[in-house]
Amino acid sequence: MLSQLLYKKGIESVVLERKTRDYVLGRIRAGILEVGFVGLMREAGVSERMDKEGLVHDGAVISFGEEQFGINFKAHTGSNIVVYGQTEVTRDLYDAREAAGGKIVFSVENVVIHDADCDAPFVTYDIDGAEQHVTCDYVAGCDGFHGVSRQTIPLEVRQEFEKVYPFGWLGVLSQTPPVHKELIYASSERGFALCSMRNDKLSRYYIQCSLSDSPDDWTDAAFWKELKRRIPAEHAAKLVTGPSIEKSIAPLRSFVTEPMRWGRLFLCGDAAHIVPPTGAKGLNTAASDIHYLYHGLVDYYQSGDGEGLERYSEKALARVWKAERFSWWMTNLLHRFPDQSRFDLKMQKAEFEFLRENAGAQMVMAQNYVGLPY
Ligand code: DHB
Repeated sequence: MLSQLLYKKGIESVVLERKTRDYVLGRIRAGILEVGFVGLMREAGVSERMDKEGLVHDGAVISFGEEQFGINFKAHTGSNIVVYGQTEVTRDLYDAREAAGGKIVFSVENVVIHDADCDAPFVTYDIDGAEQHVTCDYVAGCDGFHGVSRQTIPLEVRQEFEKVYPFGWLGVLSQTPPVHKELIYASSERGFALCSMRNDKLSRYYIQCSLSDSPDDWTDAAFWKELKRRIPAEHAAKLVTGPSIEKSIAPLRSFVTEPMRWGRLFLCGDAAHIVPPTGAKGLNTAASDIHYLYHGLVDYYQSGDGEGLERYSEKALARVWKAERFSWWMTNLLHRFPDQSRFDLKMQKAEFEFLRENAGAQMVMAQNYVGLPY
């Protein structure tokens, strides 16, 4: 995304990717785009397919056992979200970069970022056994939680904040119609479940599972049976099941590193922060980082104004922490925790009821869900 946005402003970049193109485009990720993300897709000139195929959603359903209510994001904020898979976003961006002759190098190994705290940083990497060298003005570390970028920042400079949750999400993609026109976020005695979708023939479902589970432990039949037990009976009765075409387990974690900039190295997305998936803020929070970095770089190259780059970490973190809070809140509201007391359960129920009854609480949720302003 950053590479494509910069290209539009005449600023050159090289993208280094550890995996192959096919690998990246075979991964299933979340599929909810905030209003700001949709704007970035348009600005990058890659919104044609999203505008045609993306599903505009004005609200979502929240259930607690058999009780349920809808939150209308549009009524509370004037905005909606778009359901369009992250994998499709990546495909559109790859296609646009390639059509414009952009440079994306796949299957790189041994990436090292050199002299990030000096005026002349460079990056080395291996491809087909030969070392390559890229001199650059700036390095955007968009290489995920396990990438080299964050590790490049010395430990004395870095502060890390983390919370690990005692469960995972088991996700299934199936060629079946979605159970409901809106997403359903479900809390039940047996744990959390989420009913989502990609289009009218492709559904995405998740259930909270044990961290010791492996996807092979879950037959398709066992998954569907468990999902039905966690959503209100009215929806369970309508659920169309079918063979899974993808099944995977993701652990849940909240993580932030500070600062997000060291010299000429800027951390973006999962390289700097992780959210639990509840609320689909991962991709969207990466996108807000890109917004701040993109504008900082454009201001610098177009008018020599370095303030946006200087303040990148501060601006990005201010928004990141709010997305962290929202994902943590939604995770706490909807999951069953192994050490939860009877009191804790009453607190979850009271929070659910307050949200159902209180327009102010719904507005807070809606503002966060459609995305806080950049
Ligand atoms: C999806 C994932 C999420 O984490 C979420 O909160 C909503 C939807 C998805 O994959 O569709």
